[in-house]
Amino acid sequence: MNITTSTGDVLQTSSGLAILLGFEGDALPDAVAGLIESSDFSGKANKTALVYPKGAVAPTRLLLVGLGTRDGVNAEAIRQAAATAIRQARTYQVASVTVGFAGDLPLAAGATGEALVEGLEMGAYRYLQHRTGLSADESFEIADVTILAAASVDELAAGATTGSIIAGGVLLARDLVNRPGELKTPPLLADEAVALGQRVDGVTVTVFDEVRLAEEGFGGILAVGKASDAKPRFIIFEYGADLKDVPTICLVGKGLTFDCGGLNIKGADGMESMKNDMGGSAAVFGAMQVVAQLGLPLHVVGLVPSAENMISGNAYRPGDIITTLSGKTIEILNTDAEGRVILSDGLFYAQRYQPDAIINLATLTGAVIVALGSIASGLMATNQPLADKVKAAGDTTNDLVWQLPLSGDYLTLSNSDIADLKNHVGRSAGSVGAAAFLAAFVGDYPFAHLDIAGTAWLDAPKKPYHSKGGTGSGVRLLVEYLRNHAA
Ligand code: BES
Ligand code: MN
Ligand code: ZN
Repeated sequence: MNITTSTGDVLQTSSGLAILLGFEGDALPDAVAGLIESSDFSGKANKTALVYPKGAVAPTRLLLVGLGTRDGVNAEAIRQAAATAIRQARTYQVASVTVGFAGDLPLAAGATGEALVEGLEMGAYRYLQHRTGLSADESFEIADVTILAAASVDELAAGATTGSIIAGGVLLARDLVNRPGELKTPPLLADEAVALGQRVDGVTVTVFDEVRLAEEGFGGILAVGKASDAKPRFIIFEYGADLKDVPTICLVGKGLTFDCGGLNIKGADGMESMKNDMGGSAAVFGAMQVVAQLGLPLHVVGLVPSAENMISGNAYRPGDIITTLSGKTIEILNTDAEGRVILSDGLFYAQRYQPDAIINLATLTGAVIVALGSIASGLMATNQPLADKVKAAGDTTNDLVWQLPLSGDYLTLSNSDIADLKNHVGRSAGSVGAAAFLAAFVGDYPFAHLDIAGTAWLDAPKKPYHSKGGTGSGVRLLVEYLRNHAA
């Protein structure tokens, strides 16, 4: 979808389809008011009405979409209305559409353009790569969108460009999560990272293969990856290493490309969705791409331990004690609690960058779904100022998080009697126990962990800009946090 911005009025510009975003409680423009029963369009959020103006205004079709009240409007209302609009617009199979707002822009022009384009791009997303023989209506995509406004067009266009970059990161993450496990094994995920480095200026990518991992002692990643024929990898993204006097932030993402549970095998129900167990790494891929494309004045390091948790005669066992990169030992009590085991190496490795913050993202525990459902990700942090910034970034983007404790006695939940740590804490405090385990590997660096097990994947979409499957959760939050940090 090619999105451009120009000066103009949707009602006076010829188009096969014009989208007019309007507010609840505002009168419709005079030229439109006479074309529709007023009760057919309230302006309530995400309500729509289609009008055929028959020459009364320039466009052939006019799709009215509600933003809710002007007082209540925010970026999220714009994103949702834009997504609602573009989804409905596709059904009319018009290649080129215009978009505008009734009356003044809802927010400052930059913020309006950003939210509008995020909503358009995320709303238009579908994962169709493996469908064949689609009918013309199924495969139809809108080719061009022109955003029209009376004034502040440069700011609107700049915001639109930013929104398109951010949405690009979200859609990259969705594509990776939706891809079948067979097509994104650790070596293939690493190839994808290398391709990102070639495609995006300013991002360098280094990959450690299983030989290098063994030489350096990445015992956690190797143990989990042992049973799979597809050998584990450790991916290092780096952006801004050459920038002077900028903060360093490490993003660490769980890259479990498929999690069958290992010898503690999962049940059959829903096992196929465990291809989403690299959702944390997908968020890191997306964020690295966006940070570089926005050219933020920051040093950002993305670390992805990647393995496939499988079963074979060579699988790691319950009861095994493994030695991680840090030298700390882990008692394996359940091979299905594998995420924390691979992350132990990634988090320890992060310390060598002496970062100002380490942010971990992982589809780590079913327990976080019990606690928070799929509305908010779990946030656990050893540093409250960092937690507050992450929470604020989640609120602004509506990539929501909710904080659980990670201090005092909670930090001892994963201590073991016969090793340094155990990888399973039992049913109580499952998400915090996992976070306590992770916190043992970050030293004194400010640390925040996002458990995205409930938010990375949706069987049923919750918002107009969601689609079934991967959501790209974490990308917009990370980008917002990093933009604030750079400012
Ligand atoms: N990848 C899963 C967690 C998960 C569950 C992600 C549901 C997305 C949806 C993780 O590796 C796992 O299996 N966790 C176990 C841990 C338990 C054995 C301590 C869990 O949560 O059941
Ligand atoms: Mn597991
Ligand atoms: Zn897992």
